[in-house]
Amino acid sequence: MCGIVGYVGQRPASPSSRPVDVALQGLARLEYRGYDSAGVAVLDGSEVRVAKAKGKLKNLRGVLEGQDVPTSAVAIGHTRWATHGAPTDENAHPHLGGKDDELALVHNGIIENFAALRASLEADGYTFRSETDSEAAAHLVAREMQRTGDLTLALRAAAVQLEGAFTLLAIHRDQPDRVVAARRNSPLVVGLGEGENYLGSDVAAFVDNTREALEIGQDQVVTVTADDVAVTDFEGTEVTEKKQYTIAWDVAAAQKGGYDSFMAKEIHEQATAVADTLRGRIESGALHLDEMSIDESVLRSIDKIIVVACGTAANAGNVAKYAIEHWCRIPTEVELAHEFRYRDPIVTEKTLVVAISQSGETMDTLMAMRHAQEQGAKVVAICNTYGSTIPREADAALYLHVGPEIAVASTKAYLGQITACYLLGLYLAQVRGNLFPDEIAALMEDLEQLPAHVQTVLDGAGAVEELAQSMKDTTSVLFLGRHVGYPTALEGALKLKEIAYIHAEGFAAGELKHGPIALVDEGQPVFVIVPSPRGRDSLHSKVVSNIQEVRARGARTLVIAEEGDEDVLPYSDVVLRVPATRTLFAPLLTVIPLQIFSCALAAAKGLDVDQPRNLAKSVTVE
Ligand code: AGP
Repeated sequence: MCGIVGYVGQRPASPSSRPVDVALQGLARLEYRGYDSAGVAVLDGSEVRVAKAKGKLKNLRGVLEGQDVPTSAVAIGHTRWATHGAPTDENAHPHLGGKDDELALVHNGIIENFAALRASLEADGYTFRSETDSEAAAHLVAREMQRTGDLTLALRAAAVQLEGAFTLLAIHRDQPDRVVAARRNSPLVVGLGEGENYLGSDVAAFVDNTREALEIGQDQVVTVTADDVAVTDFEGTEVTEKKQYTIAWDVAAAQKGGYDSFMAKEIHEQATAVADTLRGRIESGALHLDEMSIDESVLRSIDKIIVVACGTAANAGNVAKYAIEHWCRIPTEVELAHEFRYRDPIVTEKTLVVAISQSGETMDTLMAMRHAQEQGAKVVAICNTYGSTIPREADAALYLHVGPEIAVASTKAYLGQITACYLLGLYLAQVRGNLFPDEIAALMEDLEQLPAHVQTVLDGAGAVEELAQSMKDTTSVLFLGRHVGYPTALEGALKLKEIAYIHAEGFAAGELKHGPIALVDEGQPVFVIVPSPRGRDSLHSKVVSNIQEVRARGARTLVIAEEGDEDVLPYSDVVLRVPATRTLFAPLLTVIPLQIFSCALAAAKGLDVDQPRNLAKSVTVE
């Protein structure tokens, strides 16, 4: 939700290495965070120069083409996901601040008290040109600069007057050697170079140039020049314990690598993704989660687990519920994070909250997790983005290690999240003694087979792509599943909605007869996720009955079933096969044809697979 970049340095003059080009390069990497508008600002002697354009970054590049952009030492840039004010040129960032346009500022987040600030600034003679909350911050910093004469002091003074969530980056004509930034509840990292430094909403902003990064903590201000990075809190106390780290992936991970879209690439990275999440965590059949910094005695005392997450991450949580309850016998609830704190949830010191978030910045999840911590609960974060807010604030963090996920539609992170949830569930079972060591070893052995099985499903992508191509005029698709097939059905429907803009709904297969079956008409495509026939109980036969029910009403049945499952054949129009595995592990396989289907169908419709309309990768507002 909004991408922010900053650069300070003097590169040898070359047409493609001006600070503005470095900023544009960073914006290209961050465009997945929002693409309603883009803009950059640089200094030109005593003038602040801003260029901005609504729509995608290519529009801004068009505006800049042929322009003689000055080679100042600093540049800031922004790619927007609109909150306050429509996606227009005027509302695009950077915003100029001050009575003489002496400052430029970019903002990610929401300033809740902007109306009061705007009234006070207008009364002081500051002129507003946009409908955004962010412009109030620009003028506020400019007013504080007038008073203090120093951009760092001005940012600090402004930050304490702002309510809400913000990362702010500002440049000022009177201090042309620096970019100053402040953050609260919104992400910011610094990239460390040789004689040049970078700022970004995430490390993708500068990974082309450096892999050395510095975390910026909550309520901190950072002053970046070409040779120095100084961090203080909002009161001005120097932060001496800075967390520097080396980014674990390189720029190739942030490139399409021959695929038509990042989503296609990320789908095809999923065998590696599952292997990477498992790597180093299993030794001689036992689980070693070094990051699990919650005392084992606490884990033994918990009597309830609540998973908080949104969207795809919540679907991963729904898979986790089945596994954790089965292995650990701990009651496990899954709650959409944005609903959690409004229902007065029962949370005690014996509750373990699991916050699942690819980005680690989802504000709904962060707020739910903070609410739980206030009630005394311990929080484990399952996250992909190193150093982001959710794992930083959690009591323990399990990282996915699946590399950057750039497509807005989550795929490889979903498989990583489910895998990490299995690890967490088995770890709890190990610590609490719910399973015998040999049972855990057998489960782990099977789990380690999953990357190869994932690859087998990916190798069959061609058939799914042909199916999608043949269905590009479809207007509605239903998805059915039972048990762990249910979250898979929800995830299949979510993928299709978000990137192909097709009406899609996922149902628990048993629920269909209680109402939704009325939707089924002649030719209605229905995906059915069939559990293994080798599983326990009557789960398999019940799902086969559900296929017959919809088929009897004219549905076109698209069935995802285990290799060798002959029972589905009489009732299936199309069968897509997945390798045999344990029922609880099947979600890592059955979702893959659904991901491929959505990706191929969106591409067949000529849509932007990676940047679907109205969405942003990281949702940093509530
Ligand atoms: C997934 O395809 C979505 N774009 C979305 O539902 C996402 O999973 C959700 O916003 C949660 O994001 P997070 O994992 O970064 O917290």
